[in-house]
Amino acid sequence: MNESDLVDAIGQVIDPEIRLPLADLHMLRWAKVRRSRVDIQIDIPVPEHPAQLELENRIRQAVRNAGVDGDVNVRTEIMDASERAVLRAALASDNEDGHGQESLPFADKTSHTRVIGISSGKGGVGKSSITVNLALSLARMGKSVAILDADVYGFSVPKMLGVDHDPMVIDDIMIPPIAHGVACLSMGLFVEDSQPLIWRGPMLHKALQQFLSDAHWGKPDYLVIDMPPGTGDVALSMAEYLPRTEIVVVTTPQPAAQRVAQRSAIAARKMKLTVRGVVENMSWFTGDDRKRYEIFGSGGGQDLAHSLGVELLAQVPLVSALRSGGDSGVPVVASDPGSEASQAFERLAQRIDDMGPARVYRKELTIR
Ligand SMILES: Nc1ncnc2c1ncn2[C@@H]1O[C@H](COP(=O)(O)OP(=O)(O)O)[C@@H](O)[C@H]1O
Ligand SMILES: [Mg+2]
Repeated sequence: MNESDLVDAIGQVIDPEIRLPLADLHMLRWAKVRRSRVDIQIDIPVPEHPAQLELENRIRQAVRNAGVDGDVNVRTEIMDASERAVLRAALASDNEDGHGQESLPFADKTSHTRVIGISSGKGGVGKSSITVNLALSLARMGKSVAILDADVYGFSVPKMLGVDHDPMVIDDIMIPPIAHGVACLSMGLFVEDSQPLIWRGPMLHKALQQFLSDAHWGKPDYLVIDMPPGTGDVALSMAEYLPRTEIVVVTTPQPAAQRVAQRSAIAARKMKLTVRGVVENMSWFTGDDRKRYEIFGSGGGQDLAHSLGVELLAQVPLVSALRSGGDSGVPVVASDPGSEASQAFERLAQRIDDMGPARVYRKELTIR
């Protein structure tokens, strides 16, 4: 094998964090073969590449797959400002063009990405758990998936998803960190765990706007959003930034919860977002005797779906693995894919994918 073939092979290696080939990112400087030894130099944009080991493993694997034996020696250097500028241009051209009001991505009807907003009338019904496990289920179907945690006060996605590193920030571009194959951005990545978030509304809006405009999202198949609570002004901003959001409303089985959930669905419609369906969470608990115990009553999800004229997309049982998975950062869909809850998420993901994108999007948006 000659060196230029080897360079081609290594250039196709995908950077695990940035999710683009090294060649496109101009990160491969050179590769040399000397007898039983391969020397490679890669240039990384920032001193701390969170997935450097995995990147080196992928490079070694690519060398081996190309049929080259021997020691592989990977050197890394940090890019200088002009090299970084080339990489940033590659990231920018991989992003979708902003067509929206504020020139944000995912807003235009030509966008490849389906935006799924998980919404609920009140906290504690499982909105974040469903966001994370749905995203993972879609990823397990082979889709490329990102999560935007827009629940700016109650951010919990990084912990539930098990994000264990800070986002790479390349000058003015954030790289959403990857966990379980899913990219995510959240306020939780930028504030200390123990610190309360004391921000004025406009700062939160600005932060969400920047999450959309100043990040490398690429063109994922799905952007799943942990929506801010129902009717607040952060929710209004989200509707404005992401007018193609397809809302999925989460509720629990009891009638009271259903009324609260209905308010959030009505709010979504007032904001001209399409409501695609309902997910009922904590529907039952399956005992050791294999009987289903409907601890929170029954019928709430079906009734809500009926009154909204949409489909009941899934019923998710109450399982302790869902709670513990959220605490440990290994969602149940990853730790126990065959479990009752995981199968419910798998069906939910499949159903959403089968439905296809909402057909009717409003032409323009006027929230003032
Ligand atoms: N189906 C379920 N079975 C068991 N625990 C659940 C289930 N859904 C959610 N939980 C737990 O309930 C709590 C609230 O869920 P969470 O997803 O944070 O709700 P929200 O985002 O709506 O506030 C979390 O501790 C979560 O692990
Ligand atoms: Mg939450």
